[in-house]
Amino acid sequence: MKPTPHDLDQLRRLIASARSITVLTGAGVSAESGIPTFRDAQTGYWARFRPEDLATPEAFRRDPDLVWRWYAERRRAVLGVTPNAGHRALARLEGRVERFSLVTQNVDGLHARAGSRTVIELHGSILRVRCFKSCVSYTAGTDKAATGAPEAEAVFAADTPPRCPHCGDFLRPDVVWFGESLPEDAIEAAVAATEQCDLFLSVGTSTVVYPAAMLPDAARDAGATVVEINPQETPFSARASLSIRGTAATVLPAVIE
Ligand code: OAD
Repeated sequence: MKPTPHDLDQLRRLIASARSITVLTGAGVSAESGIPTFRDAQTGYWARFRPEDLATPEAFRRDPDLVWRWYAERRRAVLGVTPNAGHRALARLEGRVERFSLVTQNVDGLHARAGSRTVIELHGSILRVRCFKSCVSYTAGTDKAATGAPEAEAVFAADTPPRCPHCGDFLRPDVVWFGESLPEDAIEAAVAATEQCDLFLSVGTSTVVYPAAMLPDAARDAGATVVEINPQETPFSARASLSIRGTAATVLPAVIE
């Protein structure tokens, strides 16, 4: 669906007059890079797979190889695509406002690759693996691992989950699974950024997964103008100050020149 010129003008004005902007992104912002969302009909991951088979600690304990391979496949996919015009526009915006915070539910690292310097990752990163106790952590793309540990390259090339050299438990993707808590520092930073901004943008998220889904309402309750950018209506749309029906890679570059 195409956004109206009037909506785009309004958002341009809001951005130009804002002193503090916080942006929340979801899977929709990476859709135009070729990464599937979770809940879009047919194409979304959760339209094709059951989250309880792939995205819970119990699923991993039940079938570590299956879960490891699914995340390895997704990691290869994100490393094989490039950030889109939406990611790049948000990276430009960072340098143009007095205070700017980018909060993402995405685990794909595409905001950082587009040039965003500070990204609050609520759901972790698919580019990292760690053991359950976090004795070790490896990031895809780095050559050497911590002292005494196997090389990160071998960890990421493994077809089955390697063991932590310290505690002996499996290495797992460093993402937040259903039933797990969000990293405390990330959610605290996200809430603080939400409560102090005067303009909040909710981009490409279905706003159904909590606690991230509470942020647009928290911003509104704190007095911010909240704008949603999404080709589809969401449960939050009716409460947005402005709901723009369009895609991230078309709307964001159009309003952040
Ligand atoms: P969803 O898949 O739930 O929602 C994606 C949203 O993006 C939908 O509202 C789409 O309409 C919208 N969308 C699709 N294409 C778009 C485009 N080109 N531009 C803008 N919007 C577009 O994804 P999230 O809201 O991110 O959790 O899902 C939240 C969490 O649920 C994810 O972080 C993930 C998942 O289970 C974890 O991995 C822990």
